[in-house]
Amino acid sequence: MRTLTTRRLLLEPWQERHAPDLLRLATDIRVMRHIGTGVWTPGYAARRHVRALRHWADHGFGWRAVHDRADRSFLGLVSLIRPAGPVAGVPEPALEIGWWVAPHAWGRGIATEAASAVLAEAFGRLGAAAVVARFQVANTGSARVTAKLGLVPVAEAAGPDGEPMRICALTGAEYRRHRPAGDDPENPE
Ligand SMILES: CC(C)(COP(=O)(O)OP(=O)(O)OC[C@H]1O[C@@H](n2cnc3c(N)ncnc32)[C@H](O)[C@@H]1OP(=O)(O)O)[C@@H](O)C(=O)NCCC(=O)NCCS
Repeated sequence: MRTLTTRRLLLEPWQERHAPDLLRLATDIRVMRHIGTGVWTPGYAARRHVRALRHWADHGFGWRAVHDRADRSFLGLVSLIRPAGPVAGVPEPALEIGWWVAPHAWGRGIATEAASAVLAEAFGRLGAAAVVARFQVANTGSARVTAKLGLVPVAEAAGPDGEPMRICALTGAEYRRHRPAGDDPENPE
């Protein structure tokens, strides 16, 4: 399993030791405000942790813990998973990206930096034809991260409680067209 390295971050494949980090994020109302489930119970967080470990074992990619390169502290997670189903108009195979950053680290470009490296992994090593992101329309921070990464809106949907959701996508062809020459943030350690 490979850790991705960016200018400020280490993106480690999800491991057993990240269970308490997930619980801390998933029980923080500031982090979960725009997540359809709301805050997670400890039992549900434990099940999702196990599912994240299994996704790596089954597929060779998945959630990554985001750590500060300088002091190794945990800053959040960036996820890359197989979407529940195809998204109309988006080429297959598509992968779905997501991000949760601990509130003390918001506003420093952490989500964008981590997600950029995971996009490179998706379109490089993993050969994805497209990457999608879905988030509540009210989640302006996520909308901004998505736009900075080059994903564009492709569909509107409703969440479990009818909340308006937006689905954005970037194809591999578009990614390669706009990526600066020689810029390859995928840098395994
Ligand atoms: C959304 C989130 C991941 C952003 O993390 P981050 O590391 O602060 O993101 P970045 O610094 O890379 O970029 C955030 C951008 O959104 C903007 N932004 C953040 N909050 C905003 C808000 N409430 N309204 C408008 N813009 C906002 C920032 O200004 C920045 O844009 P800029 O670079 O043009 O100034 C973080 O707030 C978070 O973890 N939220 C809770 C979990 C979550 O909702 N995850 C997404 C689930 S789909």
